[in-house]
Amino acid sequence: MAATPWGSFKPSRSRSIVFSALALLMLSHVSEVAARGAQYSFLNNYLNKHVLTGRKLMAEAAPVVDVTDYGAKADPLTDNAQAFMKAWKAACNYAGGPSKMVIPSGTYITSQTVFQGPCKAKPVKIEVHGTLQAVSDPSLYPDGDWISVEDVEDVIFKGGILDGQGQKMWPYNDCKKNPKCVHLTVSLHFSKVKNGLVDGVTSVNSMGFHTSFTFSSNITVVKLNILAPHNSPNTDGIHISTTATISISDSVIKTGDDCLGIIQGTSNVSITNVRCGPGHGISIGSLGKYSDEKDVVGVHVKNCTLTGTTNGVRIKSFPSDISIKASDIIFEDISMDNVSNPIIIDQKYGLRRSSKDSSVKISDVHFKNIRGTSASATAVSLTCSKKFPCKGIQIEDVNLSYVGTRDVPYGGSCINVQPTFAGKQNPPNACAAGSPQD
Ligand SMILES: *[C@@H]1O[C@H](CO)[C@@H](O)[C@H](O)[C@H]1NC(C)=O
Ligand SMILES: *[C@@H]1O[C@H](CO)[C@@H](O)[C@H](O)[C@H]1NC(C)=O
Ligand SMILES: *[C@@H]1O[C@H](CO)[C@@H](O)[C@H](O)[C@H]1NC(C)=O
Ligand SMILES: *[C@@H]1O[C@H](CO)[C@@H](O)[C@H](O)[C@H]1NC(C)=O
Ligand SMILES: *[C@@H]1O[C@H](CO)[C@@H](O)[C@H](O)[C@H]1NC(C)=O
Repeated sequence: MAATPWGSFKPSRSRSIVFSALALLMLSHVSEVAARGAQYSFLNNYLNKHVLTGRKLMAEAAPVVDVTDYGAKADPLTDNAQAFMKAWKAACNYAGGPSKMVIPSGTYITSQTVFQGPCKAKPVKIEVHGTLQAVSDPSLYPDGDWISVEDVEDVIFKGGILDGQGQKMWPYNDCKKNPKCVHLTVSLHFSKVKNGLVDGVTSVNSMGFHTSFTFSSNITVVKLNILAPHNSPNTDGIHISTTATISISDSVIKTGDDCLGIIQGTSNVSITNVRCGPGHGISIGSLGKYSDEKDVVGVHVKNCTLTGTTNGVRIKSFPSDISIKASDIIFEDISMDNVSNPIIIDQKYGLRRSSKDSSVKISDVHFKNIRGTSASATAVSLTCSKKFPCKGIQIEDVNLSYVGTRDVPYGGSCINVQPTFAGKQNPPNACAAGSPQD
């Protein structure tokens, strides 16, 4: 295992580390002020402000809460996590109808911040005008999340730039070599959220995933703007698991891993008007990794554009005995620009030479009106499980021309699957060519 700056750090549910770290930060802030030879009165003002803040905390919950009234400061020395969480409590506890917590313009440093429910306000809104910037110290993210919204019904997260400062952490990501690696911190995580809206949020340089949705239902994501370099490790744009009914639209995702990863336990997913690239494409899976996985049912990807991605639209599962199904999946009106593996089902994912078969049953998958250019000679690559061949795979109106440079036959490959073809087909003989995978 490669050395990391945090040794054997493991995520845990304990938040005490954060609070003691925050306490230390606050203490060091006070002593820093004193050490700079500041006037006694200045220090006194500082303390007064805290006493005031404390008094405010005793006050009633409010319909509109400004984080600066709770001690938040847009300066490079203040960790605002505690101020944000106190402000959130006031907004969350407002019982008279809707409420909102406002983070004004400016750059606010913050470590792990949990917006915890349940709330009395409905809906409760987090309105960010400024930039939130993460602290680059993994020990300040014991739960593996930077900003999380947890156990809330009717919540809106609107606006703002979330700057994860991931570039300082990526060099320590060893997940390529170490399958048991600790995944780096997720920038925005919705967990156990019912009726959630994420609107107009920008995420740059996340440490790990940009956004993640788990144990949630009825989630809408619009105008999400995701940005990280093509070689940033495990920076998936949107990661979805154990979530029912989620719709993502009008978003741009440029990142170093899957633009979208739709994982186990997810149903009724709609993805429309999304541009992806650079990145690893739009993926269902990987599936079949953990023993307690649940089915993926109902994924509709429509009117999306992929540019220069390492995969296009993909379903991937590990060879394993984990038996779930992935079904009722439609990829339609997809535009590909110089995409490698534009249409791909890979049931030997991660273990190409394994003699084991995947036990994930893939059925009712439609690839419809997929056009543009392929960077790989194998434009259609369907590698299904021998034990459970893919069923009901339909390929209709595919017009992908080859723009790669390899002098090999252009076509596709179909293993343990007999797709039905309809409409235009380019490559013309997706299952016959048998060209080598590249
Ligand atoms: C889903 O959430 C939206 C808010 O984002 C809300 O308006 C709508 O009523 C919810 N739908 C259901 C079925 O609860
Ligand atoms: C599926 O999601 C759509 C929104 O994308 C929603 O209108 C519909 O009610 C959902 N269907 C079910 C069965 O939950
Ligand atoms: C398709 O998506 C693009 C954005 O990628 C959008 O501009 C266009 O309006 C969408 N078309 C339809 C029919 O929704
Ligand atoms: C297409 O993608 C390949 C990498 O897959 C890259 O080397 C090449 O420059 C790209 N071509 C164009 C025209 O963008
Ligand atoms: C297929 O795409 C090419 C350009 O990539 C275009 O010239 C051709 O008309 C398309 N064919 C059909 C049937 O859409």
